[in-house]
Amino acid sequence: MRQPSPAPLEPADKNWWRDAAIYQIYVRSFADGDGDGTGDLAGVRARLPYLVELGVDAIWFTPWYLSPLADGGYDVADYRTIDPAFGTLAEAEKLIAEARERGIRTIIDVVPNHVSDQHAWFKAALAAGPGSPERELFHFRTGRGEHGEIPPNDWISEFGGTPWTRLDDGEWYLHLFATEQPDLNWAHPAVRQEHEDVLRFWFERGVAGVRIDSAALLAKDPALPDFTVGRDPHPFVDRDELHDIYRSWRAIADEYDAVFVGEVWLPDTERFIRYLRPDELHTAFNFTFLACPWDAELLRAAIDDTVAEHAPVGAPATWVLCNHDVTRTVTRYGREATGFDFAAKAFGTPTDTELGTRRARAAALLSLALPGAVYLYQGEELGLPEVEIPLDRIQDPMHFRSGGTDPGRDGCRVPLPWTADAPYAGFGSDTEPWLPQPESWSSYAADLQSGDADSMLTLYREALRLRRTETGFGDGPMSWLETDPAVLAFSREDGLVCVVNLGEEPAELPAHTGVLLVSGALDPEGRLPRDTAAWLRN
Ligand code: NOJ
Repeated sequence: MRQPSPAPLEPADKNWWRDAAIYQIYVRSFADGDGDGTGDLAGVRARLPYLVELGVDAIWFTPWYLSPLADGGYDVADYRTIDPAFGTLAEAEKLIAEARERGIRTIIDVVPNHVSDQHAWFKAALAAGPGSPERELFHFRTGRGEHGEIPPNDWISEFGGTPWTRLDDGEWYLHLFATEQPDLNWAHPAVRQEHEDVLRFWFERGVAGVRIDSAALLAKDPALPDFTVGRDPHPFVDRDELHDIYRSWRAIADEYDAVFVGEVWLPDTERFIRYLRPDELHTAFNFTFLACPWDAELLRAAIDDTVAEHAPVGAPATWVLCNHDVTRTVTRYGREATGFDFAAKAFGTPTDTELGTRRARAAALLSLALPGAVYLYQGEELGLPEVEIPLDRIQDPMHFRSGGTDPGRDGCRVPLPWTADAPYAGFGSDTEPWLPQPESWSSYAADLQSGDADSMLTLYREALRLRRTETGFGDGPMSWLETDPAVLAFSREDGLVCVVNLGEEPAELPAHTGVLLVSGALDPEGRLPRDTAAWLRN
């Protein structure tokens, strides 16, 4: 059996995930090592020193497996092969080991709800025809209506439209996302077995954690009934059968000291927290926080709810400001406080990027001071805005399935700017990258920001350094300080205090003995201006 490469990481640090700073890499857009216009593992390997300097504890790779990229790799054709556009399995193993030597753990993404229509199982199911055992691994059904021409039920795809596609042989198959992403049948033992094997495959290669895509969608009511508002249990969201699956996954992870982070979008706290019971997932993304507008009252409530809901199960919270599916933070915070705009994105929404940047800087200090782990999405540390991609260059299936009304998610996936003074802002390509970069991109380049004391990159580097070296950060208690309602101020252990001013007027700082870091200059009276945060020691 293959052994993970020797880890220079502290063996005692088994609880690293409880307060880790985890950096999300969207491989296709991180750095291009071979010049072909697509980011790859060579690009990541070359940039490991950057990640060390940034000060992150782990990197999470969005899917890097063989894929036709119909949904940016969330359509997996083979879990045990790296897509040739990104590199090879040997290279992934090297990358995992090299990162580990530098003190950075690797988290990979698994996509258990569906596979690519190019996956061997689906191709075999198509070839084998109706009624075959191969089709039992998926959800094939006959249609309704006189000629079976109406989809088997009334569900709506997560990307819009019906989640059913009809084949020439008359059967329909279910895909909660794009047509190219057929849903697996999780009631079938072979589906379970295969995913457990895939987990072991990667854990044996030194992977320290797994992000579970669409974690609450795998189980379906076997009758696939019509969706009825209020139907309980829901025919495909958050079904009780899931917990048994995750308990067996947890047992496997425990053999390797590996951890899970679930993508669990559930508004019901009580249901959400069930996934984080001690024998299930270690953590889940905090979408309540991500979805919260820049508003003191709403943020305070989101933080309180998060802390309260995690307490009974003893799981650490996670704090997330953006990812590859949502509008970038500086743009989101630079718009009217409409909150989370995953689906409600519109072309041409007025945005004040300067305001958004000021708030994003303050939000960085807020999220890094809260108790638990924190996720950063590549480019967040550069303060990148959302990009409006020209219509003829959009690739995201979400855009097409919305009938062209939703810009989709490509605007937060634009290849990163590394060097101001290089072709394609130093992304590494000899030809135009897979998504176009706007003209302003060079001004965000990492090399420019590196030497600039006031840049977003410098703020993140300094904040992550302090979060590692100073006491009071990470997992542990927090308590609110009494303040003006427009100011969020809380203390952590050892007198660490975080203050964020979301009001119009400058705010007096609470009593303190020293200022550790500010997201923007204090005013001449030593007060905290609007949309600014400070870390203090009292
Ligand atoms: C959630 C992923 O984050 C998103 O990018 C993807 O499109 C869907 N799940 C489907 O896998």
